[in-house]
Amino acid sequence: MAIRQIRQEGDPILKKKSRIVENIDEKIIELIDDMIETMHKYNGVGLAAVQVGILKQVLVIDIDDGNGPVAMINPVIIKTKGAEEMEEGCLSFPNKFAKVIRPTEVTAEYTNIKGERIRVKAKELFAQAIAHEVDHLNGEVFVDKMVPGTLEYVTPEENK
Ligand code: NI
Repeated sequence: MAIRQIRQEGDPILKKKSRIVENIDEKIIELIDDMIETMHKYNGVGLAAVQVGILKQVLVIDIDDGNGPVAMINPVIIKTKGAEEMEEGCLSFPNKFAKVIRPTEVTAEYTNIKGERIRVKAKELFAQAIAHEVDHLNGEVFVDKMVPGTLEYVTPEENK
């Protein structure tokens, strides 16, 4: 496993759409392992492959609920419920936080590393994380959809 470099705000790759994963091969498994390690190193809740420079529909999420990280390949949001303003940040925008309107419930389908298609009904932080990371796969970043006037800059010292 290895820590990968996270693409930062202004990198044009963040606006590009990710492609479907056709085969779950060793490279995809290695990518997922590295993404989980990178997400944990920087205390992120989620990370999309595009954020480490790979335009593939892969994301990882760990909401720190004791169930460990989840890796989603080719995720699709099937249904959403509710809408709430939620505080949000992103590892590609290290010092920025803003409010974004997110669904309170998300039903999603994804392929796991064993190749099984899984359906999940997520709530609260998990739902927010899925919505945020699926946006990345579509080339969308949270600052493009933030509630106007809610952007905050927090320096690393203040964030400790
Ligand atoms: Ni993000």
